[in-house]
Amino acid sequence: MTTMKQSPTASDAGSSATASFRAGSAAAFGEAQTSTERVNTVVRAVLDAVHAVIRDHQVTYPEFQAAKRWLMDLGEGGEWPLFLDVFVEHVVEEVAARSQQGTPGTILGPYYLPDQKRLPAVAALPARPDEPGSTWVLSGQVRDVDGNPVAGAELDVWQNSADGFYSGFAPHLPDGNLRGVIVTGDDGRFEITTILPVPYQVPTDGPTGELIAAAGWHPWRPAHLHLLVRASEHRTITTQLYFSGGRYVDDDVAHATKAELILDPEKLPDGTYRSEYDFVLERD
Ligand code: DHB
Ligand code: FE
Repeated sequence: MTTMKQSPTASDAGSSATASFRAGSAAAFGEAQTSTERVNTVVRAVLDAVHAVIRDHQVTYPEFQAAKRWLMDLGEGGEWPLFLDVFVEHVVEEVAARSQQGTPGTILGPYYLPDQKRLPAVAALPARPDEPGSTWVLSGQVRDVDGNPVAGAELDVWQNSADGFYSGFAPHLPDGNLRGVIVTGDDGRFEITTILPVPYQVPTDGPTGELIAAAGWHPWRPAHLHLLVRASEHRTITTQLYFSGGRYVDDDVAHATKAELILDPEKLPDGTYRSEYDFVLERD
C-alpha cells in the first residue's frame, strides 16, 4: 500500500503565516506607535487613492460586492501576510532602502521563523537524509562598510525545498528543514552547504491565488535564498539571493529582485554548484 503525502494547501500556508506574524515577526521587525496626525495623513491618502480608482474606472456595485467578499475570504483564510508581502512589501522596502548603505535588502516575505538551529561558520543546513535537489555551496565573507571582517555575524537563512514548500508552513516537511543560523568565524567568513532553491508559487487554492487567476497574472517568484544578516552594533540586512538565467528572475510576482542580488553559480564536474557572495553591514 502506498501512503499519500498530505498535500500542502493555501490555508496551511496562510494561517501559519498569520500565526507566525502575530507570534513575533511584527515585534521583531518593529511595529510603529503611530500618531493621530500620521494616521490621518496616510490613511486619508490610501482612501483617496481607492476613491480615485472607483471614479476613474467606474467601479460598479457588483464589483464592490465581489471585492468585499474577496477581502473577507482573504482574512478568514489567514492570507493577509501572503498577499501584502507579495504585492505591497517591495515598495515599503524600496522606501527604506533610500536611507541605507551596504548590501541591498529586499522583502522579508511571510515565511521567516525565528530561533532556528545555530551552526558554525562552515555548515550544512538541516535537511532530510534524502533531501531532493542539487547540492549548492554558498561561501563568502561578512564585512563592515570600511572593509573590516565581522566576526560572530549571524546569517539566518531559509529557503524552499525542491517541491517548492517552506518548512513550518507545509505539513509534510520536518520543522527546521533548510533553515539555520550560520555564525561567521574570526575572519568573517562562512560556507553554507544546502540545495538550490526552486521557483516558488503563491498558493493557488486560496483567495490570493483566486485573485491572480481572475486578473490573468502568474503566481511565480524566482528561486531564492532568504537571509537576515546581523551582527551587534550593525543594522540587520533582510535580503534574498537569486540565480541568473533562472525562471521569473525578470518577472517576479513580488517585484523583489535586484540586479546586485543575482548570483551566477558555477557548476563543478561532480554536479554540485558553488557561489561566492560577500555581505556588507553598516553600523547602527
Ligand atoms: C511570499 C512567499 C515567499 O517565499 C516570498 O519570498 C515572498 C512572498 C508570499 O507567498 O507572499
Ligand atoms: Fe520566499
